Amino acid sequence: MILKNNYSLLNYNSFKIDVKAKEFVEVNSTDELKEICKINNRKEILFLGGGSNILFTKDFQGLIIHLNLKGKTIEKIDSNHSIISAYAGENWNKFVNYCLEKNLGGIENLSLIPGNVGSAPVQNIGAYGTELKDVFVSCEVFNQKDCTVKEYNLDDCCFDYRNSIFKTKKHLIIISVKLKLTNKDHYINSSYGGVNDELERLGIKNPTIRDVSEAVINIRNRKLPDPKNIGNAGSFFKNPIVDLKKIEAIKKNFIDIPNFKVEENKFKIPAAWLIEKAGFKGKNFGKFGVHKSQSLVLVNYGNASGKDIYKLSLSIKEVVNKIFKINLETEVNII
Ligand code: EPU
Repeated sequence: MILKNNYSLLNYNSFKIDVKAKEFVEVNSTDELKEICKINNRKEILFLGGGSNILFTKDFQGLIIHLNLKGKTIEKIDSNHSIISAYAGENWNKFVNYCLEKNLGGIENLSLIPGNVGSAPVQNIGAYGTELKDVFVSCEVFNQKDCTVKEYNLDDCCFDYRNSIFKTKKHLIIISVKLKLTNKDHYINSSYGGVNDELERLGIKNPTIRDVSEAVINIRNRKLPDPKNIGNAGSFFKNPIVDLKKIEAIKKNFIDIPNFKVEENKFKIPAAWLIEKAGFKGKNFGKFGVHKSQSLVLVNYGNASGKDIYKLSLSIKEVVNKIFKINLETEVNII
């Protein structure tokens, strides 16, 4: 472990914000993680995974611990299921591809999501009709407060839409994740808007898990900017969930408001639609802006500061609130 001082985080955040950490260290094992935390017990610590869901608005004055634990194992538990374990530092999309190579089904709809395996449970990553919790078994968690490691099962994690216990309890650090995937008789989930259309466009009638992955990748590539080319952190806000009364009230002025029932008297409204109606879609402010094909994604065209992007997010919240009386909740972690 090499402790670095005044270390640039430019290559450690997908927004490509050029800030520095006062101290930075990369850990490659649980023992290294324990060791560094014991020594630095009283310091301000930030644990960093793939950096794909974070916005740095200033230099970080404490210690950043970059979680780089690698490795994965597969164990067949019955004729149709395997448990796959992966360490936190594995890249999520490479992990999805690895599972596809082994013909393991269940996470193909989560193809191309940026970030690492360890961050996946934090916001219960979800896309195209699948959420991590659908295949989740457990994860190994390091508790920074007492330097112990404990297994958290599905119920312990309190998963919800873009939420889990790890979003608020920042001292709980995910070291590895266990998922239950199918070996055969895969469940093909292509019902989410767009996936079936894309499969049809590809001329595929009986899709395999690889076909679903390809369809999802095509849709994402069309709509979402690749962080390798344009700095971004995916959806900046969560989709708000409102009651029927609210939908009816908005319908008076916006008859076409899209909404999806999530449970009794609870409806999800696409935040992208609210932002588009508020006039921000595709807005370019020079160094930063709102993406032209998906208004939920704020982008750094180059050399924007985290403060620029944060201020833009506040303006969006303000205008959306003025028009719809809805308070958009940030999905990205603001530091
Ligand atoms: N829409 C607009 N304007 C836009 C884009 C979308 O009005 O610019 C409306 C349309 O009505 C569209 C609807 O929003 O039908 C849904 O759009 P989309 O399928 O792109 O999904 P989303 O709700 O905007 C969520 C996730 C994405 C995930 C997609 C696909 C959240 C916060 N975001 O976006 O996740 O890829 O669904 O499942 O739930 C991420 O978390 O970083 C992320 C990209």
